Amino acid sequence: MEQANRPRAGIIGTGGIAHAHAEALELAGAELVMAVDVDADRAAAFAAKMGFAQTAPSLAAAAGAGLDVVAVCTPPSSHASLALEALSLGLNVVLEKPPALSLRQMRELEEAERASGKHVCCVFQHRFGSGARKLAVLQESGVLGTALTGFCNTLWFRNQEYFDVPWRGLWNVEGGGPTMGHGIHQFDLLLHLWGPWQEVTAFAGRLARRTETEDVSTAIVRFESGALSTVINSVISPRETTQLRFDYENATVELEHLYGYDDSHWRFTPAPGHEHLADLWADGSTVTPSGHPAQYVEIVEAINSGAVPPVTLTEAYPTMELAAAIYASAITGKTIRRGEISEGNPFFDRADGRLEPWKLEKSNA
Ligand SMILES: NC(=O)c1ccc[n+]([C@@H]2O[C@H](COP(=O)([O-])OP(=O)(O)OC[C@H]3O[C@@H](n4cnc5c(N)ncnc54)[C@H](O)[C@@H]3O)[C@@H](O)[C@H]2O)c1
Repeated sequence: MEQANRPRAGIIGTGGIAHAHAEALELAGAELVMAVDVDADRAAAFAAKMGFAQTAPSLAAAAGAGLDVVAVCTPPSSHASLALEALSLGLNVVLEKPPALSLRQMRELEEAERASGKHVCCVFQHRFGSGARKLAVLQESGVLGTALTGFCNTLWFRNQEYFDVPWRGLWNVEGGGPTMGHGIHQFDLLLHLWGPWQEVTAFAGRLARRTETEDVSTAIVRFESGALSTVINSVISPRETTQLRFDYENATVELEHLYGYDDSHWRFTPAPGHEHLADLWADGSTVTPSGHPAQYVEIVEAINSGAVPPVTLTEAYPTMELAAAIYASAITGKTIRRGEISEGNPFFDRADGRLEPWKLEKSNA
């Protein structure tokens, strides 16, 4: 890539996921300029390992580095405030999941983004693998018929030690348990493909871990199209797997993987009389795995060309809204319709609405 077309990138928070961002930014052609972390030693080690030119202890201290884009890879409670700060410094922002802790913060970010003229994009990398793209194209063409029913299972396993890390499993730091933190990637893909959800009925519980939030939730979602899907978000499932199933009138499309997929993780079964669809599915694969590189290619291209980088806050909002609604339904015992959680609703400000029924202080557990 031409030197002139290389956006100057920074990363805030140089822990685990920052490595995926650095690799993906470099692959996409960005210049690795600034590694920011409150832990100076960690920032220095990360910068040396991944090839960043400079380090800083805060975003404010990095302000003079002439950055174009900054990736926020800190724990969730700092995402919204760091994104607001970055926008105020005139930077484009890539926000790790969840982009914010509440729907109110999502709205505040949208407003600040509009005023800044810069862009915020949310990391939902499973939208960008070639399998999901192919399914979107076939679905759009109409050959699959109507979407009918399916499931979306995040069946992962995190032991008690995982939750013993001080900030884990806290509403005010993580914004929730596996619904907000783990399953969100999967139901983001489901919503990306099946469009606006209409209503959800959910249950949640803390069945096996000492933690403040849920450790499992289950939900039934009705889409505006009429399609119905179940969604499980679990971190207490010993045989870990990630499963999505999309039943259309004319074919079943399945995806089974763990933390990322490639084309080999998809399975296509045509309905009787529609066998020709299997050839369409087999054609045209571009073998792009899901993951940060697949999304960053588009982000960097968009920044270079002045286009809007994906996934926008507006595109991510229904996913955050479904997470909030799963909590609201599980906690109130009611079915929640999309749009219902707005100003004045306790779940607009915090995913548990400060009403969660599993009230158990970690220290008492
Ligand atoms: N998209 C994915 O597949 C994926 C996977 C894992 C994690 N994540 C998300 O990435 C985020 C980070 O997760 P992680 O596992 O890398 O966490 P981590 O704890 O390994 O790293 C976080 C880093 O941020 C630093 N930090 C904290 N507050 C800071 C601040 N205000 N300014 C600068 N640095 C600060 C910490 O010192 C630490 O080095 C989380 O939101 C998590 O949900 C996403």
